Amino acid sequence: MIQTLAAPKPTPLYVILADELQSLVGQGTLRPGHRVPSVRRMALQRDVSISTVIQAYTLLENRGVLEARPQSGYYVRARLPGDAPEPRMARPMAKPSYVGVNDLTAEIMSFATDPAYVPLGAALPDHTLFPTKKLARLLGAVGRNDPALLGRYAMNWAYDPLAREIARRYLQAGTPLSHDELVVTIGCAEAINLSLRAVTKPGDTVALESPAYFGFLETIQSLNLRALEVPTDPRTGICLDALRDALEHNDVKAILVMPSYQNPLGSCMPDEKKERLYRLLADYDVPAIEDDIYGDLHFGERRPKPLKAWDTDGRVLLCSSFSKTLAPGLRVGWCAPGRYLERVRRLKFTNTLGTPVVLQKTVSDFLRNGGYDHHLRSIRRAYQNQLHLFSQAVLRHFPEGTRLSRPQGGFILWVELPPGVDTLRLHREALKHHINTAPGALFSVKDRYRNCLRLNCGLPWGEAIESAVRKLGELAKQQLH
Ligand SMILES: Cc1ncc(COP(=O)(O)O)c(C=O)c1O
Repeated sequence: MIQTLAAPKPTPLYVILADELQSLVGQGTLRPGHRVPSVRRMALQRDVSISTVIQAYTLLENRGVLEARPQSGYYVRARLPGDAPEPRMARPMAKPSYVGVNDLTAEIMSFATDPAYVPLGAALPDHTLFPTKKLARLLGAVGRNDPALLGRYAMNWAYDPLAREIARRYLQAGTPLSHDELVVTIGCAEAINLSLRAVTKPGDTVALESPAYFGFLETIQSLNLRALEVPTDPRTGICLDALRDALEHNDVKAILVMPSYQNPLGSCMPDEKKERLYRLLADYDVPAIEDDIYGDLHFGERRPKPLKAWDTDGRVLLCSSFSKTLAPGLRVGWCAPGRYLERVRRLKFTNTLGTPVVLQKTVSDFLRNGGYDHHLRSIRRAYQNQLHLFSQAVLRHFPEGTRLSRPQGGFILWVELPPGVDTLRLHREALKHHINTAPGALFSVKDRYRNCLRLNCGLPWGEAIESAVRKLGELAKQQLH
C-alpha cells in the first residue's frame, strides 16, 4: 500500500475566530460580563457566514469563555457562578429576642433616594427600569375619566379588576386563588404588618430566616414581638431541621418567610422543600406569613410557586406588591390571608380604611393593557445582567476570601467578607465617599453578620457603579491591613 503524507488540515475559520476572541478576553479587552457583538453583526464585521459565528460562539461556550443569555446574546463568562464560595450559614439562636432600636435603617433609607449617593444600600431598582411615563399617563387618565374617584373613600378590600388580574397571575404560577380572598394594601409592608397583627399579640415569638430583611425586624419591634432567627441556606432557604427544633422548643406563634428569592440571601426553596415546610407548619399548627415580593423576578423559565400553592387549610398569609416589578411609588400591594381573611380585613379598615382606587385602577389598567409581561421579561434580563456584573466586580475588587451569594432571581447580592472586616465601619467610611451600603449588622437581632454586606444590584451598570464597588473593596482591604 502506498502511504501518502496528508497535508495538514487548515484550521477552520470558526476556530480562528474563537481563538481571536478568547485572546481578547485573556488580554482584558473583553471583560467578564461584556456582551460580544451579536451573531449577525459579527458575521458582517468579519465577512464570514452566520453559521461560522454560531460555531465560534458555541465553541467558546464549551470552553467556558462565553455564556448565552436567553433573548439577550452572548456574554463573556465570569469566574462566577461556579467558582466563588458561597456565604456560610449562621448558627441557630438559643432563644427568641426582642428587637433593639436601630437608627441605622432610617439612615440607610434617607440616603437611598439622595442623588448625591451611590445607592447600594436600600433594595431599590433604578427608576429608569420602571415604565414611569406610561404609568403617569394612565394615572392622569384615571383621574380625568372619573374625577369622582377622588371625592370618595375607597371602601373596598380590593378594586375588583385588579384583584382578578392578581388572582389570574397566581393561577398561571400554579396557585389558584379567588379574587375575593385578596385585600389590596399600601405596599407589601402593610400586608406584612396586618398579617403579623392578625396572628400574634405583643410578646409572642415569630420565627424568621437568618439573615433577615431589616424591614421585618423593624415591624417585629414596632409590634413588640420577639424574633427567633433560623439558619438559612444561601441557596435553598430556611433550614427545616433547625426550624423543627425551633418549633419544638419554643412557643412560636407564626413564621415569617421568603421562600422565593429571600432578602438578603436570594435563596429559593425547591418545590419539594416548600412542600415539606408546609407539612412541618401543619404538624405544629403554625401559620406562615409568606413574603413573595421577588417571586416574579425569576431568571429561569418558570416562576417559582409560592408556599401558598400547598396551602390546603388556609394557614398561609401570602403578601406581595408591585414595588419591585412596576412602581414602588404607587404603593400597591396585597395580602391573601387564607383563614385569617376577616381579621386582616378588620385590621386594614382600622389601619388605612382602604387603598386609593385611583392607584389600584392605574395598576390594573397597566396589567391589562400596558404590556406587563413584556416589561417583566425586560427587567428580569436587566436584573440578571446587573447581578452578574456586580458579582464580577466584587470578585475583582474585594479582598481574597470574599464569599458571595448566587441568586437565581431578584437583584440583591449578599457578600461575606473575610472575618477581619467590620462592615459597619466600612459603611461609615463609604458614606464619606458618597456610597451608601447596608451593613450585615442590620440583618439580625444578635451581633451577627459583622463582616457581611448587602448590595443593591438594581442599578444599571456603569463607571460610577464600578468605581463605587472598587472603592468598597479598597476600604475593606485597608481594614485588613
Ligand atoms: C422583602 C421585602 N418585603 C417588603 C418590602 C416592602 O415592600 P413595599 O415597598 O411593597 O411596601 C421590601 C422592600 O424593600 C422587601 O425587600
